[in-house]
Amino acid sequence: MTTLSATRLAGRRILLGISAGIAAYKSAQLARLLKQAGCEVRVVMTEGAQAFITPLTLQALTGEPVRTSLLDPEAEAGMGHIELARWAETILIAPATADLMARLAQGMADDLLTTLCLASDAERLMAPAMNQAMWRHPATRRNAARLLHDGWRLLGPDSGDQACGDVGPGRMLEPEAIMAELIRPSAEAAHGQAAPAQDAPTQDAPAQGLHIVITAGPTREPLDPVRYLSNHSSGKMGFALAAAAAELGARVSLISGPVSLPTPEGVARIDVETALQMHEASRRLVGGCDIFVGCAAVADYRAEALAEHKIKKVEGEDALTLRLVKNPDIIADIANERDAAGGRPFVVGFAAETRDLEAYARDKLSRKRLDMIVANDVSSAGLGFGADDNAALLLWRDGEGEGGESLPPQPKTQLARAVIERALGCLSVRPVH
Ligand code: PMT
Repeated sequence: MTTLSATRLAGRRILLGISAGIAAYKSAQLARLLKQAGCEVRVVMTEGAQAFITPLTLQALTGEPVRTSLLDPEAEAGMGHIELARWAETILIAPATADLMARLAQGMADDLLTTLCLASDAERLMAPAMNQAMWRHPATRRNAARLLHDGWRLLGPDSGDQACGDVGPGRMLEPEAIMAELIRPSAEAAHGQAAPAQDAPTQDAPAQGLHIVITAGPTREPLDPVRYLSNHSSGKMGFALAAAAAELGARVSLISGPVSLPTPEGVARIDVETALQMHEASRRLVGGCDIFVGCAAVADYRAEALAEHKIKKVEGEDALTLRLVKNPDIIADIANERDAAGGRPFVVGFAAETRDLEAYARDKLSRKRLDMIVANDVSSAGLGFGADDNAALLLWRDGEGEGGESLPPQPKTQLARAVIERALGCLSVRPVH
């Protein structure tokens, strides 16, 4: 999170609710991040949550006693539950289990946490976490819809490997991503605007309810402890895309190679170094994502073997042979994989070319099975790698056929917005994959 984001949370009174799931261990990190951002944090745990993490851990992290029971005369003598409900400016439940969602959707008040939720006018957010089949079950879908209707914001869930061995949607968002989501309503409130309803795109926030994953920057492929192979990508283009997507209302995950740029406001950033790490992070985040944008300049090859010690100059030898092996093609993998329901995100690739821009871009569009490609000529002075400006040829395929548009030289921030808006347009008329 940026300092500005943290400042926006400073002093905020947050009631952190924890229910019974294996993801409860991540709530400790979440409590820490909230405290670091300057929030006042009070924790309420359900009975089941205490089987996964102890109240003492949360007490140590927040410096406040943890509440676990509605019928606790001692705790009630301190701050009564109605007082606690009024104290909270934000109720954040992480993890929220299927059972808790069901009870809240029914308006039940059968333990301290549900009672507080019913008795409070605070902003309400939850990060669901459960087995993928439970998340997909019609009963949970109904409860999620009910909760959205009742004004809850649902953060996630993410998709990927689950503790039970299944793969699919239901993983709790990472604490850093929850923090990024948390600042969004505060930012809107600071500008005197009402937060738009979850999953309801508006003219100002056409990407509301969408999750956009973007890769940016270079990758670094180590040769030995002090040397690596890389390229001149600064990350500016990818970071501009992330900022534009967040401004348009999306939840944005930015997977970044090593760059020295600040994280755009409201964006969850995942730092990686190598192509293999970027591949792993992309595959982990892509489940349930709506648009995937591959802007990173990924090294096509890495050293076959990483030298344990610094490679020494050999006296009398004028040449050194390095054996390289191919890295996975991240974007092609994303475009070619299907989730359990047979779907995949709208996939936008970049093509960095120094000649025959359109021909090479068309080849990449079809060979990697992308939906859109942003082709930039990286041999033009003042554009492309490292520059503040860029120009591009956009080519796409959507439910209405093929399209193309030439974007003249302009600041990367402006070009990024045009790319995201075009992708949103295509997504709205997209054929079923
Ligand atoms: O970061 P900046 O300094 O702002 O510069 C921006 C940029 C020039 C890096 C950017 O606009 C750009 O063109 N990014 C893509 C660079 C690139 O690697 O292009 P490519 O033609 O080699 O790759 C085609 C596509 O496949 C890209 O979407 C790339 O992310 C993806 N790819 C490539 C190799 C690989 N192993 N995995 C991939 O996913």
